[in-house]
Amino acid sequence: MCGIVGAIAARPVTAILLEGLRRLEYRGYDSAGLAVFDGEEIQRLRRTGKVQMLVDAELQAPLSGSLGIAHTRWATHGKPTENNAHPHMSGEQLAIVHNGIIENFEPLKEELVAEGYHFSSETDTEVIAHLIDRAIHSGADLQQAFLSTVSQLEGAFALGVMHKAFPDQILASRKGSPLVVGVGLGENFIASDQMALLQVTDRFIYLEEGDFVQLEKDKITIWDKNQQLVERPIKVFEHNLSVADKGEFRHFMMKEIYEQPEVVKATLQGRITEDRLLEQAFGNGASELFDQVRQVQIIACGTSYHAGLVAKYWLEDIAGMPCAVEVASEFRYRKTVIADNTLFLTISQSGETADTLAALRAVKDQVLASLTICNVPGSSLVRESDLSLMTNAGPEIGVASTKAFTTQLVALLLLTIALGRRNGLSEQQEAEIIGHLHQLPALLLASVRLDKNVELLAQDFAEKNHALFLGRGALYPVAMEGALKLKEISYIHAEAYPAGELKHGPLALVDKEMPVVTVAPNNALLDKLKANLQEVKARGGELFVFAGIDRIQSEEGLKVEQMPDVPEILAPIVYTIPLQLLSYHAAVLKGTDVDQPRNLAKSVTVE
Ligand code: F6R
Repeated sequence: MCGIVGAIAARPVTAILLEGLRRLEYRGYDSAGLAVFDGEEIQRLRRTGKVQMLVDAELQAPLSGSLGIAHTRWATHGKPTENNAHPHMSGEQLAIVHNGIIENFEPLKEELVAEGYHFSSETDTEVIAHLIDRAIHSGADLQQAFLSTVSQLEGAFALGVMHKAFPDQILASRKGSPLVVGVGLGENFIASDQMALLQVTDRFIYLEEGDFVQLEKDKITIWDKNQQLVERPIKVFEHNLSVADKGEFRHFMMKEIYEQPEVVKATLQGRITEDRLLEQAFGNGASELFDQVRQVQIIACGTSYHAGLVAKYWLEDIAGMPCAVEVASEFRYRKTVIADNTLFLTISQSGETADTLAALRAVKDQVLASLTICNVPGSSLVRESDLSLMTNAGPEIGVASTKAFTTQLVALLLLTIALGRRNGLSEQQEAEIIGHLHQLPALLLASVRLDKNVELLAQDFAEKNHALFLGRGALYPVAMEGALKLKEISYIHAEAYPAGELKHGPLALVDKEMPVVTVAPNNALLDKLKANLQEVKARGGELFVFAGIDRIQSEEGLKVEQMPDVPEILAPIVYTIPLQLLSYHAAVLKGTDVDQPRNLAKSVTVE
């Protein structure tokens, strides 16, 4: 989704802005641009396509100045053209960058057009530029003009504005879209997330909803949504600089798949002993709240929703806790009945997903407590939830989620233990699950090592147009996640079914052109699953099965990849790995853009 960077400094800022955009590429975008004030004019450069094209254009026509704003655009209103790319300007005076959607832009635009404003783009953003300009022409200073404009906007936004007549400041605000302030020495910055600014600072202020900021070189002034001056804490972001680097890997996605054995250690670190869960991991007051929980409502989108579906199996089976799971975009718009003592659990890699956040805000006052399982500290979901458990996966750059998903599952298993304790899970059972979790990094490593074998299997996929994914029990959501991964990055149409549903319809699709991928760990449902595989085989379908050692034999039309033997409870986590590898290799063979698949964004900050 759109990314914003802004800088005000004593030194030239163009390189900082371009590097910031490069670091925001992972969010997904289709055009990019920047505006820099050179002391006399605001110079603007925009390009469709990759940030590199903007960088190349800037080399040809350098922009210099110590005040600037920049943007990567993910098209919502208007095609991805240069004219629609940000920054947008009103005359030669004012430039603006925006992430979000202005819902009432049409009436505002009509009003401005009637007054003689000319629009050079199809975007909703350009309205904001002209509204500020109009207010300045009626005698307001930049700050008053900005505030009066923001008060007219409906929808979601993070904004950065610079004006030629006010060259000592950048104004910014956020409502519904993320924005952080980067604090430097004699220079300050704004950006959609910290990643964009790690090359210049590790000190950040996380803005609250409705905050308005005046950024000067040596000063940061913040007003809250009631226009009261406020102090927001500066937080040091602890990071490992290598995260933004592909290292030996060709793609971030592959690097992130390979990181999983290590990052799950970080998810577990400090949260378990040899045989016990350390419940304090969920934060102050969590234990008292958990005592009162009688059911769990999980809300998430996409891959995070699949993590929630796996958790439902665990929570009901192991913790005896009723659990409902729903995608946020549905939940937020329907009339819902929240039972007493509900724990409202959101799951999100980014912590900024607009629908998930809106669902939380809609029911926050009706639930016992809200908990988020999230990978980004300081994100909106973390700040707005009563409790949070960070997945500690480190930044995920590939748009297709991999390590974020498996670490979410680990965090969800910890929650299952916490709630299970109150519902009959014995100390011995807890010790057994924790013992299994200690084995998890080694099991994930063994799965990642199947990479070369899976790469061979992928050759049978790259030419296909469709695929079916099957699983049973907690492996059904894993099959759903496998299908989503394949669609996202290889653009092969894929669908997942609970294997028992095959004969109720999808079996009609099966022929030799329809590969059927099945996750079949050794569990109580294996024999039933084997029967389902026979149904496929009998119709000439081609099966690719991931199964425990010696549980299913390869034969004509059925290729088995042997997985390490895993405790049943860990199977959803471990069996995710070969499906990630399968999609990755299919995409590489097809030559698609693995890390930034078409039309997709990493952080979906608009609904
Ligand atoms: C798929 C993927 C998306 C996200 C979804 C929710 O690989 O990454 O489906 O899972 O957009 O995003 P978060 O987890 O940031 O709320």
